[in-house]
Amino acid sequence: MKQILVTGANGQLAKCIKDAANNYSGMELHFVTRKELDISNAAAVSVWFENKSFDYCINTAAYTNVEKAESEKDAAFATNAEGVKNVANACKKYGITLIHISTDYVFDGNKTSPYSEEDKTNPINVYGASKLKGEENITASGCKHLIMRTSWLYSQYGHNFFNTVLRFASEGKPLTVTTEQTGVPTNANDLADAILKIVMGNAEAHGIFHFSNRGNATWYDFAEAILEFTGQLAGAKLAKTNHYRTFAKRPKYSILNTKRFSEAFGIVPLPWRESLKELVKINLTKKRN
Ligand SMILES: NC(=O)c1ccc[n+]([C@@H]2O[C@H](COP(=O)([O-])OP(=O)(O)OC[C@H]3O[C@@H](n4cnc5c(N)ncnc54)[C@H](OP(=O)(O)O)[C@@H]3O)[C@@H](O)[C@H]2O)c1
Repeated sequence: MKQILVTGANGQLAKCIKDAANNYSGMELHFVTRKELDISNAAAVSVWFENKSFDYCINTAAYTNVEKAESEKDAAFATNAEGVKNVANACKKYGITLIHISTDYVFDGNKTSPYSEEDKTNPINVYGASKLKGEENITASGCKHLIMRTSWLYSQYGHNFFNTVLRFASEGKPLTVTTEQTGVPTNANDLADAILKIVMGNAEAHGIFHFSNRGNATWYDFAEAILEFTGQLAGAKLAKTNHYRTFAKRPKYSILNTKRFSEAFGIVPLPWRESLKELVKINLTKKRN
């Protein structure tokens, strides 16, 4: 029975992993919240790992507020860089394989074709810089690891774009969405399933991998598809903008090339629209029952 630790248990990806685990046997998952294991506390992390035995640690814990990170640089780095270092050091010490989640925001967005794992990183906001430092700390720790960079995560859980659009629609509020960035919305349930498949497959491959759904979209396209698939487009007050002001700069283009991931693990991610449709269908069925 594989023993798997999942950090950041209250986050959307961790919740999707918990759901996805229902489809697998041969693994025992141990979920820990920030309250139980604050990864930014080096001493606490070190003590926590003593006398425990895990095969994998899936680190979903992260400081994820891209906007706030601009004014809370220390907090972002404490978790995304130092916290990740603490976890990686523990993984190295106890021979645990670390599966860590990183982001398309490690890139500056100046490319016009999908980013590969070899492309030069150059974050343009604090969040991206803190996540890049986390990646570097993992590599430096020498632990066995997979770093999965993903993009525009959404799911039925937590504060994410999918849930925000649905909330605005249900409240009849107008929604103005930017067309300035191109990326790929990624269903966190698909990422969760991919991670568990990798764990069960005993894959030997390690290093950095890009995982996202396939295709491309602007945030406006994503909002429109959410409303269309939930049957709310006709009545929605949806508008486009190319001047959406934010504190944090965002990469104009951040599509990830997932070829390396597919070749290594034999998993081809779904096109984003298909995956979104699937999530909407599951949610509607749950609501009806
Ligand atoms: N969301 C996206 O669009 C996106 C895109 C690309 C990559 N990613 C990456 O994907 C991963 C999962 O993201 P997500 O969307 O699931 O994020 P999320 O919903 O914000 O969950 C992150 C979780 O980490 C916990 N956490 C924060 N600081 C911590 C600390 N110091 N120690 C322990 N736990 C801590 C949070 O705890 P609280 O619940 O107490 O706040 C939260 O439950 C992250 O690594 C993120 O950087 C996300």
